[in-house]
Amino acid sequence: MAESARTLNVSGIRVTIFSDRDAAEAAAADRIAGLLDDRRMRGLSVVLGLATGRTPIGIYRRLVARHRAREVSFAHAETFNLDEYWPIGLQDPGSFHRFMHEHLFDHVDLPRGKRHVPNGSLPVSALASHLADYEAAIRAAGGIDLQILGLGRNGHIGFNEPGSTRDSRTRLVVLAAETIEANRASFPADTSPPSRAVTMGIATILESRRILALAFGDAKAEIVEKTLLGPISPEVPASFLREHGPPCDVDLFLDEAAASRLSAATDRSGRG
Ligand code: GLP
Repeated sequence: MAESARTLNVSGIRVTIFSDRDAAEAAAADRIAGLLDDRRMRGLSVVLGLATGRTPIGIYRRLVARHRAREVSFAHAETFNLDEYWPIGLQDPGSFHRFMHEHLFDHVDLPRGKRHVPNGSLPVSALASHLADYEAAIRAAGGIDLQILGLGRNGHIGFNEPGSTRDSRTRLVVLAAETIEANRASFPADTSPPSRAVTMGIATILESRRILALAFGDAKAEIVEKTLLGPISPEVPASFLREHGPPCDVDLFLDEAAASRLSAATDRSGRG
């Protein structure tokens, strides 16, 4: 870990503040590569929960580089993505299916049958059984060992928008207007992003044995503060991360900008 990084315990979550985003991405890639390596050496498989959005792109870039350098293998891994737009074609420029191929799947040795992304191209009549099967497949794989998570600016995790409850499961949801706006750039200028999505539920996410959440930049500072120090409430779905476990095994990696409203608050409350 970078020498300048500091780790605080805030409301039960291990918060590590890095000097910059690069250092945080490198530490996250180290964590994932370390887990892959440890399990491979012991002849065990590993189940990763994967995220999309701008936040994890640098982590995937680092993992791909390490794979090309023969330092890391995904041959014994199985992955489950958090979410996908609905309805959307698998090859649509904005689809998370395509995103994962572009940033990770096409460049590493993760077996084809072991990469799972919710299928946003199914008709509504097939959706309920697909989403139930998705939960069943996570259980059949033995549960998620490490879930990677970004934070939406409105506090969403996966596509669990404000209002999502602690016991929610993988399901079809309606996206918040600010989420559609925030992700508009992933879609061609002449198309509108879908207004619905399928997402692992909050209960599904919290069943992961370990969670590594990340947030970078000024725009995330307010939601980081609310997540850690505000009430635990469906209004800020990420606040439920404080209810992981027991034992609570959640890391939040931040750069200085995303942590900027936190240091004052932790000093005031005497936590950390
Ligand atoms: C997206 C995804 C989330 C992601 C979040 C943050 O809409 N559904 O899984 O973590 O919003 O996005 P970004 O990393 O681009 O800030």
